[in-house]
Amino acid sequence: MIGVLVSGTGTNLQALIDAGLPVVAVASNRRDVYALLRAREAGLPAASFALDCHADRAERDLMMATWLEEHGVELVVLAGYMHLLTKPFLDRFPERIVNVHPSLLPAFPGAHAIHDALAAEVETTGVTVHLVDEGLDTGRVLVQEELALEPRATLVDRVHALEHRLLPQVVADLCAGVR
Ligand code: GRF
Repeated sequence: MIGVLVSGTGTNLQALIDAGLPVVAVASNRRDVYALLRAREAGLPAASFALDCHADRAERDLMMATWLEEHGVELVVLAGYMHLLTKPFLDRFPERIVNVHPSLLPAFPGAHAIHDALAAEVETTGVTVHLVDEGLDTGRVLVQEELALEPRATLVDRVHALEHRLLPQVVADLCAGVR
């Protein structure tokens, strides 16, 4: 049973839902993001855990982890989730949190990976799906696939299309105990 964390438009969440994966709950660090609407439209429980409602990030993460567990979540997928998770959350789902990132990690970690790759004028970039630890996009890599930087004008679309293919594949494998 999968819980998905989101912060934005939720196209990766949509890819997981469309792939028929057992998503049972969706949580966000931000109110009013389009991803939460997608979740509700799919009939999924969706909740926001904004920082201003909590004493600190650790407390927020603890509440979020508890809410996910109450919905039966065993595997957490970060699909465009833009906050680092604290130890109290990581400890609740050991080795069971995955993230999709739009570069070939360890190159270009952080929130602007596609822009950073374009600015660095590397020949190749890509997409990484990896396990999540306390660092910024540092956990063990599960799968990576390359993309040519050129043609630059279509890079953003090609990265997203690759994310929407790779993430559901890896999550399906994890659900099947293959990875
Ligand atoms: C994706 O490119 C993801 O890799 C990055 O943020 C984007 C989220 O897109 N961290 P969406 O919310 O899934 O549409």
